[in-house]
Amino acid sequence: GMGSKLVGCGSAIPSLSISNDNLSKIVETSDEWIAARTGIRNRRVLSGDETLRGLSIQAAQRALEMAQVKPEDVDLVLLCTSTPDDLFGGAAQVLTEVGCTNAFGFDITAACSGFIVGLITATRFIKGGGLQNVLVVGADALSKFVDWTDRGTCILFGDAAGAVLVQACSADEDGLLGFCVQSDGNGQKHLNAATSNDESILSNTNGVPGFPPKKATYSCIQMNGKEVFRFAVRCVPQSIEKALEEAGLPASSIDWLLLHQANQRIIDAAANRLDIPSDKVISNLANYGNTSAASIPLALDEAVRSGKVKTGDIIAASGFGAGLTWGSAIVKW
Ligand code: ACO
Repeated sequence: GMGSKLVGCGSAIPSLSISNDNLSKIVETSDEWIAARTGIRNRRVLSGDETLRGLSIQAAQRALEMAQVKPEDVDLVLLCTSTPDDLFGGAAQVLTEVGCTNAFGFDITAACSGFIVGLITATRFIKGGGLQNVLVVGADALSKFVDWTDRGTCILFGDAAGAVLVQACSADEDGLLGFCVQSDGNGQKHLNAATSNDESILSNTNGVPGFPPKKATYSCIQMNGKEVFRFAVRCVPQSIEKALEEAGLPASSIDWLLLHQANQRIIDAAANRLDIPSDKVISNLANYGNTSAASIPLALDEAVRSGKVKTGDIIAASGFGAGLTWGSAIVKW
C-alpha cells in the first residue's frame, strides 16, 4: 500500500504588527486583560497592498524550497481558507503564481479546522488517487471580518499563511498516521460571520415580486466566547484520542502537542486532560493571535525551522472552530 508524509513546510506573515496596547486605544481593554485571558500580546494584520493570496504564495514557495520539490511537480494545491480574496476561491491563482503548471487546485472552507481537513484530503488524494505531491496551504485574513469596535472578538485574531508539502511514499514510511474530523451545525450560532442581505442591485423589479435577490455581504465575526471555549476544551482532547486510536498509538507517544492557536487557556486545558507536559506543547499565539486556518502550519514551520521539531517526532495536531468543525491529525515529521 501507499503512504504519505510531510516533506516541507513554510509560512508568511504580514508586516504590520498590532500590540495589545495599540488595541487598548481603540476599545476599552488592556494588555494585562488580554494576556491573562488569552496569552496573546501581538498580532499581524494585512495592510497596504498585502493580500491573502500574496501570503499564501510565499508560504507555498517556502514549503517547496524546504521539500526540494519543483513547482511543476505539484499535482494538487489545496487552499484552506475562509477568507479568499475572491468569493469563487483562490487556489487557482495561488498555484499559477507559484508556477505549479501541472496542478489543479481548489479551496477548502472549514474555518480554524481547514488545515486539518486539508491534510486529510491530501492523504486521500495520494493514497486513493495516485497523486505524488500535494501542497496544503492554510491561510486566513480574519482581520477583514473583525468588528474592530467589539472588544470581545477584536483582541483575538491575526492574519497569516502556512503551508506543507505532502508527498507519496511507501507504506512503511507513512507519516500521516491517524485522523479524526467532526462537525456540528448546532454550534453555528456561537461563532459565525454569516451573510446578510444588503441592498437591491435593481430598483426596477419589472413587477416580479421578490426578484431579484438582494446582494449579500458578510457580517463581522460574532462569537459567544464562553460557549466556544467550552466546546474546544471538551471536544479537542476527545478528537485527539480518536486520532491516536486510529494511529494505534498511546498518548505517551506524542512528542509535540500542536493545537490551533486560539487561546493559551484552551491549549493548557487540553494538554492537562491528555496528561501532556508543558514542555511538549507548541505555542506561538503570543506573537500572532488566532490566525485561523494558518495557525497550525505557521506554528509547525517555526518549530521545525528553530530545530525544536526533529525528523521522526510524533505531532498531535488539532484544529477547532466555526461550523462548528473540529479535527485532529497524528503526524510524523
Ligand atoms: N478587555 C477587557 N474586558 C473585556 C474584554 C476585553 N478585550 N472582552 C470582554 N471583556 C469583559 C466582558 O465585557 C465581561 O465583563 P462583565 O463581566 O462586566 O460583563 C468580562 O470581561 C468577562 O468576559 P467574558 O466574555 O466572560 O470573558 P472570558 O473569560 O470568557 O474570556 C474570551 C473571553 C477570551 C473571548 C474567551 O471566552 C475565549 O477565548 N473563548 C474562546 C474563543 C475562541 O477561541 N474563539 C475562536 C476559536 S474558533 C476560530 O478560530 C474562528
